[in-house]
Amino acid sequence: MSDQRTIIITGCSSGIGAYCARALKADGWRVFATVRKFDDLAPLEADGIEAFRMDYTSSDSIADFVRDVTRAGNGRIDALFNNGAYGQPGAVEDLTTDVLREQFETNFFGWHELTRQIIPMMRKRGQGRIVQCSSILGVVPYRFRGAYTASKFALEGLSITMRMELEGSGIHVSLIEPGPITSRFVATSLLKINEHIDLRGSAHATEYRRQLARLDGSGGPNRHKLGPDAVYDVLKHALNARRPRPHYPVTRPAKQGILLKKLLPADLFYRLIRRFD
Ligand SMILES: NC(=O)c1ccc[n+]([C@@H]2O[C@H](COP(=O)([O-])OP(=O)(O)OC[C@H]3O[C@@H](n4cnc5c(N)ncnc54)[C@H](OP(=O)(O)O)[C@@H]3O)[C@@H](O)[C@H]2O)c1
Repeated sequence: MSDQRTIIITGCSSGIGAYCARALKADGWRVFATVRKFDDLAPLEADGIEAFRMDYTSSDSIADFVRDVTRAGNGRIDALFNNGAYGQPGAVEDLTTDVLREQFETNFFGWHELTRQIIPMMRKRGQGRIVQCSSILGVVPYRFRGAYTASKFALEGLSITMRMELEGSGIHVSLIEPGPITSRFVATSLLKINEHIDLRGSAHATEYRRQLARLDGSGGPNRHKLGPDAVYDVLKHALNARRPRPHYPVTRPAKQGILLKKLLPADLFYRLIRRFD
């Protein structure tokens, strides 16, 4: 069997996944990247990446992918980077339960379903890395991001539990918690808010207008925004370090948010972060 390490990365059509797939390939990994759309396969394949289609909302799609990637990797998967996700904005009272469920299907249940099917391959070899792309919103809640915040809080709880349960198995679990990163994330969030939230009929209509005016659809102005290479820096540590950390915050706002949450009384902290949404 070749010595080349293999990694699955989901959500590689853009942003963090697209960047990390190429960077890992350049660093010598054999990369199995997933996308949802047929047209997104070719750009990855052109860069020597083995690309597959997989949609977290479909159990069949996950099972088909696991079958194909098991075959491609000859049963060897060294690492899994769960990354593909989106953010559904909107006040909690404006979210239908179906829209909330949809958010969890992609950001939470799909990740669990895929991970469960990969762990046996890692257990057989007595080693593996599972890296979950969480968010600062998995640690610090933001107004009007309840669906996304809840999905990432749930992910944090599940992943850290899994980390403790897998202790001694050779499989390590880490969470990456980025703040603002350049990607298609904000553009997709704008589509989702317009698709699913009654912006005019809401009690929060004025607030929605203010927030939408602030965003320009290309990622929104934010002087603390970093490129996806900042995520790659910590991903490398989670994949290579002898003792990978449980949490990897990325960007200054993420690190500050986590520190303030530790230091400040809860009520004061929640009043303070209201100013940053
Ligand atoms: N950008 C940020 O500021 C930021 C901050 C904190 C955390 N994050 C996290 O970073 C990760 C990557 O996001 P990004 O910023 O790179 O955004 P992005 O450019 O929008 O990329 C998201 C990726 O997820 C895929 N995806 C969406 N729904 C999916 C589904 N049901 N099944 C499989 N894949 C799906 C998208 O595919 P399609 O092209 O087909 O939609 C796309 O490839 C996410 O977990 C996100 O929560 C991002």
